Amino acid sequence: MSNNQNKKLYIETIGCAMNVRDSEHIIAELKDKEGYHLTDDAKTADLILINTCSVREKPVHKLFSEIGAFNKIKKEDAKIGICGCTASHLGEEILKKAPSVSFVLGARNVSKITKALHEDKFVDVGIDYDESKYVFGEFRSSPYKAFVNISIGCDKSCTYCIVPHTRGNEVSIPPYIIINEVKRAVENGAKEIFLLGQNVNNYGIRFSDKDIKNIDFSDLLEMVSEIDGVERIRFTSPHPLHMDDKFLNVFASNPKICKSMHMPLQSGSNEILKQMKRGYSKEWFIQRALKLRELVKDVHISTDVIVAFPGESEKDFEDTLDVVNKVRFEQMFSFKYSPRPFTKAAAFLNQIPGEVGSARLKTLQDLHTNIIDEISYLQKGKRYQVLFEELKPDGMIAGRSDNNFMVQVAGSEQLLGKIADVVITNPKRMVLYGELVE
Ligand code: SAH
Ligand code: SF4
Ligand code: F3S
Repeated sequence: MSNNQNKKLYIETIGCAMNVRDSEHIIAELKDKEGYHLTDDAKTADLILINTCSVREKPVHKLFSEIGAFNKIKKEDAKIGICGCTASHLGEEILKKAPSVSFVLGARNVSKITKALHEDKFVDVGIDYDESKYVFGEFRSSPYKAFVNISIGCDKSCTYCIVPHTRGNEVSIPPYIIINEVKRAVENGAKEIFLLGQNVNNYGIRFSDKDIKNIDFSDLLEMVSEIDGVERIRFTSPHPLHMDDKFLNVFASNPKICKSMHMPLQSGSNEILKQMKRGYSKEWFIQRALKLRELVKDVHISTDVIVAFPGESEKDFEDTLDVVNKVRFEQMFSFKYSPRPFTKAAAFLNQIPGEVGSARLKTLQDLHTNIIDEISYLQKGKRYQVLFEELKPDGMIAGRSDNNFMVQVAGSEQLLGKIADVVITNPKRMVLYGELVE
């Protein structure tokens, strides 16, 4: 433990839920082992960390201007460290371009944060390191909701995606570590457990502990649901390819599992899905989504879609619109294809002009906005269980329904961290307003 107990850490986190959890792990390590405290004022910080995302090009460009901006305001002897997926893919180059940076720590090496801090110009961006059995200290941003990693890396090789190159191969975290972490989170007040991995329903594919055998994601879900105090379970991201009947049945029948499923479509065209190496067809995807709707009343299905992947024709794009029309996703995240280093698709010759991509993105988003409006309207009169998490102005309090809608009711801090029944009275596009059921 260091002598100085008053050092301040400023951390900025970009990217997915796994990055958010990595930041929590980094904060826990620096608190427990180095005596750092969090600050939200970079000017007073002794250490400024940027935990970066690399999945699309834009945030990568922004990194260097951000480092420049921090340089202007930081204390003279404050250090700047770059972590996460952009650290993984740029490595040394960051130190060359931005000499004020003290260290670069890749997304597969989070547990080395204290080492990075003490070595001059430390760079470790390897993607073979195995952190799957490392037990991090306890730090959580939300008192009610606990992110818990169940695997590291990704074994797929979707041709557009940089993640396997920044986080390496998939290794599952042993169930005993996950169970202990869930128990600890619940003891500290968590009600909702959010299991995280790039491909959660591929869980169990490989453990570094060779004694663990024959456990898959469905089994893990059942194990977590048996822990006293766990009230809700969510997870992200599952892969449509691994949505077999066993998984869908556990999802449907276990009352602790929240009825909200992310089904990343990416494209509705069989040809593009093949080029993307997604491993499923349009028909499989639709069949799985409709089966889910049949098994689970009021299920919430969200998705990710990429438009203008190399070679995407108008007909391919129409197939994507067709799936969106058939599945009627409750939520959609949509992106224009962004060529990424190390990925196969970046070298494909039939790249689509930017303006075509922008126009397709707009068409897709307009379609989905109409769908959302219709879905929201239909929520009137429905009764949902909501976990309240955030006070809003004007005496309102916000939370998520079991099936992942953002809900607000009139209420005070007494409701924070509580799960209560709500009837929806005034549904809007982004928020369903309702009333508590006594
Ligand atoms: N493991 C997760 C994906 C993580 S990346 C999964 O398979 O669902 C999150 C989303 O970013 C992806 O689902 C995809 O829609 C999008 N994405 C990934 N690479 C991209 C690229 N090169 N261009 C545009 N969007 C991309
Ligand atoms: Fe990327 Fe595909 Fe892995 Fe998701 S499954 S992280 S999109 S390679
Ligand atoms: Fe971004 Fe890395 Fe997550 S690239 S989306 S932070 S896995």
